[in-house]
Amino acid sequence: MIEQAAVVVRGEIIEWVGREQDLPTEYRYPCRHRAVTQFGNGSREQIEAAEANKQAEAIDEATNEATAEPRHIDLAGRALLPGFVDSHSHLVFGGDRGDEFEARMGGQQYDGGGILRTVRATRAASEDMLADRALALLREARAQGTTTMEIKSGYGLDVSNEAKLLRVAARFTPETTFLGGHAVPEEYRPVQAGDDARSGSSVPHFGDRDDYVHLVCGPMLDAVVREGNARWSDVFCEPHSPYAFDGDETCAMLTAAKQRGLGIRVHGAQLGPGPGARIACELGAASVDHCTFLTDDDLDALAATWLGKQPGAWAEMSAETSSAASSAASSKMQPAASALERQYGTVATYLPAVEFSTKQPYPDMRRAIAAGVPIAIASDCNPGTCFSDSMPFAFAIAVREMGLTIAQAVWAATAGGALALRRSDIGVIRIGAKADFALVDAPSYAHIAYRPGVPITHALDLGGHDRQP
Ligand code: NIG
Ligand code: FE
Repeated sequence: MIEQAAVVVRGEIIEWVGREQDLPTEYRYPCRHRAVTQFGNGSREQIEAAEANKQAEAIDEATNEATAEPRHIDLAGRALLPGFVDSHSHLVFGGDRGDEFEARMGGQQYDGGGILRTVRATRAASEDMLADRALALLREARAQGTTTMEIKSGYGLDVSNEAKLLRVAARFTPETTFLGGHAVPEEYRPVQAGDDARSGSSVPHFGDRDDYVHLVCGPMLDAVVREGNARWSDVFCEPHSPYAFDGDETCAMLTAAKQRGLGIRVHGAQLGPGPGARIACELGAASVDHCTFLTDDDLDALAATWLGKQPGAWAEMSAETSSAASSAASSKMQPAASALERQYGTVATYLPAVEFSTKQPYPDMRRAIAAGVPIAIASDCNPGTCFSDSMPFAFAIAVREMGLTIAQAVWAATAGGALALRRSDIGVIRIGAKADFALVDAPSYAHIAYRPGVPITHALDLGGHDRQP
């Protein structure tokens, strides 16, 4: 933490950061916009006014950057963080499952079967309806400090609907993930009495689960690659759920995706110990997510993926690499997945609000830290296991229930998320990184957990160019 800090931003990029007293003279301009003058006094309005000023002036800057006057915003002692990097969400969906949450609070277990309800509602929804809802959720997240959000498909589960969901996701973020391997859809489930997902329905029967895995690896992946709207591919690897996929099925789908040039990620160890983390390590996934039931062997395997490529080295990465990553991200293209795999291992991404919303036990994140595994926290916002896109909420749970210090939680929600997306241009306040910030209306980042449920953290994009709503 730097006290009495100053940050200089040019365009979308951080140009200087350090103690205010060390600010180079060329940046010492008279203060034109003391829009935020007094801590705790109408602060949100003041900051919004400052942002509005900035946006108006951004137009002038864009037309004639050379003559644009610098602006000075006094944050009046507030804590400024990198914007939260939410590396796991399912924001594109139709319908509602509040009843399922209510039943869970009454003791019912989560088993993944509800995914098929959301699939029905999502297939019935138009692309624009889905986009409107995703946009509303993104705005909610941004209002709470999130500046980058990964978004998965996974509620289409046929060729045209998975492509539809990815088109929606790609409207909002370059961090799009094809999740055809989210669940075995109704048309590929066995027809048998007592199967709630099929009983009473007139769903056609297209085959068994093997046929579905072939569909994902073949025609579905073909369409996804052809449309070019997915950076990543993911699978819900969970032998404890009859709706999800076992280790062999997971390997088949992720290997096919990898061969087609997609980066990979895995939902693993959510409902019990399983092969997800090991597969993630073997296949070079960027992240294994949930991690509720990681074993010591899983943690050792994850740590081993970082040997020779420690996260400390990531922070020091050459300017060449970071500017390549930054320009690639803004042009919607990413550095080749294979090149990134040589620099990055597999992150353990924890989803604290899922344990809250499913009543699963909270895993102890200190085990991962002790094993030397880089960690991230993300929202997993989805209609089933966690209908919250609030990173401050996940942050507070990680601190209160999962053993993180507050400083570790800051790291996990920013730099850790960036690491899980193999990005070096976000999640950190340093020269050359994107000017994406989370501003806490408090003198210390401790207040994010110290004042849970209170809306004191929101995104501040000093670059003036909203890349995400
Ligand atoms: O990340 N676990 C699998 N997928 C989602 C939940 C999906 C749902 O229940 O709708 C998750 O928890
Ligand atoms: Fe998820």
